[in-house]
Amino acid sequence: MEPFVFFGGKGGVGKTTVSCAYGVKSARAGLETLVVSTDPAHSVTDVFDQRFSDDPESVEGIDGLDAMEIDPETESQRHLDGIRNDLSEQVSAAMVNEINQQLEMAHQTPGAYESALFDRFVDVMRNADPYDRVVFDTSPTGSTLRLLGLPEFLEGWIDRLMHKREKSIDLFEKAAIGNNEPRRVMDGDPVLARLQDRKEFFEFAGGALQSDAAFFLVLNPDQLSVNETRRAIAEMRERDLSVRGLVANKLTPEPESHEDGRGARYLRDRVATENERLQEVRETLDPPLVAEITTRTAEVKGDLLGDVATELDVETDAEVPTFV
Ligand SMILES: Nc1ncnc2c1ncn2[C@@H]1O[C@H](COP(=O)(O)OP(=O)(O)OP(=O)(O)O)[C@@H](O)[C@H]1O
Ligand SMILES: [Mg+2]
Repeated sequence: MEPFVFFGGKGGVGKTTVSCAYGVKSARAGLETLVVSTDPAHSVTDVFDQRFSDDPESVEGIDGLDAMEIDPETESQRHLDGIRNDLSEQVSAAMVNEINQQLEMAHQTPGAYESALFDRFVDVMRNADPYDRVVFDTSPTGSTLRLLGLPEFLEGWIDRLMHKREKSIDLFEKAAIGNNEPRRVMDGDPVLARLQDRKEFFEFAGGALQSDAAFFLVLNPDQLSVNETRRAIAEMRERDLSVRGLVANKLTPEPESHEDGRGARYLRDRVATENERLQEVRETLDPPLVAEITTRTAEVKGDLLGDVATELDVETDAEVPTFV
């Protein structure tokens, strides 16, 4: 299977739990594995009872498993600072203020946060050589996937900019007396260089997601979650990305057949409802159900995580990235 594996899904369905469990499964299979989370609540820290940071660190007690937690807020700020630095070297002091205000506003728009995270994901994919497998807790959402359409858009834009630039250089040549080597203006143009960079970045991201990544969606057996999953599958499909499989989590356990108390009857009714939802998933959604994980009586961590890992019917063998 592809070296990069993403687990997405609605809030609270169990993405972090399943990502960590799959990380454990991969590491047990002998793969050097990294789990990357972007959970602001630091859930990976909770799952492994160990504090993680922005740099990969090994998970204690599990050979071959590393984890890192990217803080979305810090990442978003870092992203903003990066752009600000780049620009301040390229524009006049008078413009810096104006640009700063515009950037602050852009920073508040929906999607800015995700776009910063997405950049970081792609960064991790680019630097994944020490690992056989990287597990991402959270797959790209609609707004980040839309970014992948940007290279073509940028290409047109770069072409138009180049054209304008050429025209003004031409005018400059006609007006200038002596030789100012005007071509060098264009070669060293920092704006064009930056655009070219971004274009390559998105091309890499699109290629890596299409050829080196497998996507799984985690869902719970309720109508809202099933509907959301249906939408997410369609959204991914629009970007030519297919969802490899679905993980149903937090299923109600069935009582023993001889039990007939109020609790047992409740569980039986609940199981019946959930079975209908799962049947709907099997019949109306294309990706196969690759795991059905029952609700445990406590948070999934420690030994429980190992149990859940064995319930995931997801391959572990990893191909080498083709695109990096
Ligand atoms: N099968 C399960 N049995 C019992 N508890 C579970 C199970 N799966 C997940 N949980 C618990 O449910 C809570 C939410 O799970 P998790 O953090 O994995 O979800 P998430 O999708 O990553 O959430 P978020 O969207 O907030 O990041 C956690 O407390 C976790 O321990
Ligand atoms: Mg989470």
